[in-house]
Amino acid sequence: MNIDFVRKEIPVTSRRAYFDNAGTGPPSINVLNAIHEYLTDWRDYGENWEEWLPIIIDSRRLFAKMIGAGLEEVASVPNVSSALTALASSVKYKPGGNIVISELNFPTNIYLWHLQKKHGRANDVRLLRKDRTGVVPLDEWEKAIDDDTSIVSVDYVSWANGCREKIREITKIAHEHNAFVRHRRLLPRTRSLPDQCQARRGRCASLRNVQVDARAPRRRLPIHTP
Ligand SMILES: Cc1ncc(COP(=O)(O)O)c(C=O)c1O
Repeated sequence: MNIDFVRKEIPVTSRRAYFDNAGTGPPSINVLNAIHEYLTDWRDYGENWEEWLPIIIDSRRLFAKMIGAGLEEVASVPNVSSALTALASSVKYKPGGNIVISELNFPTNIYLWHLQKKHGRANDVRLLRKDRTGVVPLDEWEKAIDDDTSIVSVDYVSWANGCREKIREITKIAHEHNAFVRHRRLLPRTRSLPDQCQARRGRCASLRNVQVDARAPRRRLPIHTP
């Protein structure tokens, strides 16, 4: 990696060691140019849908390649919260089942599931607590997930303390409670939904072989993390 090039691309790094990339980090020159191009296009042509749509599809294709998925498996939505909401309303729940989440999840990824309980889609929302070292031990996931678990929703990297969850292992436990239904079908099963909002681009790609059912990364974030 050419570090001088990276510093030029992300100007703030020539003045600061910038670590707060989690929510909305400072954009790179590349990103600024693309936004400017888009706004100019919008100004000059209004809704230039014919030109925009192929770009959106192409970005989905590139992202799919990065995570080892097919184009039809990637959807572009405005943000992580709407992705999770769409998923929550499209998954089939086990009757009288439960949902397993962690207190290290972002609030969206906690309240959303309580709402599903309110709507009668689950009997129980199991909120796992962190221990004194700030992690939810794997055996807590193991204890909480059972044959009645419809959904395991976990933030890959916690917004609260940066804890990186053992997605591979948690997903394996989730799928062990799904003896009769095959992977990727929207049938009642234990589904593993990692929210990858806080994970770096490289980290998202490194999960390409983990058979999670859905993941929700954030475009705003990977764009400005070199
Ligand atoms: C782990 C995690 N999930 C979800 C969100 C919400 O993301 P969005 O604003 O894209 O809905 C955040 C915001 O920081 C987050 O850190």
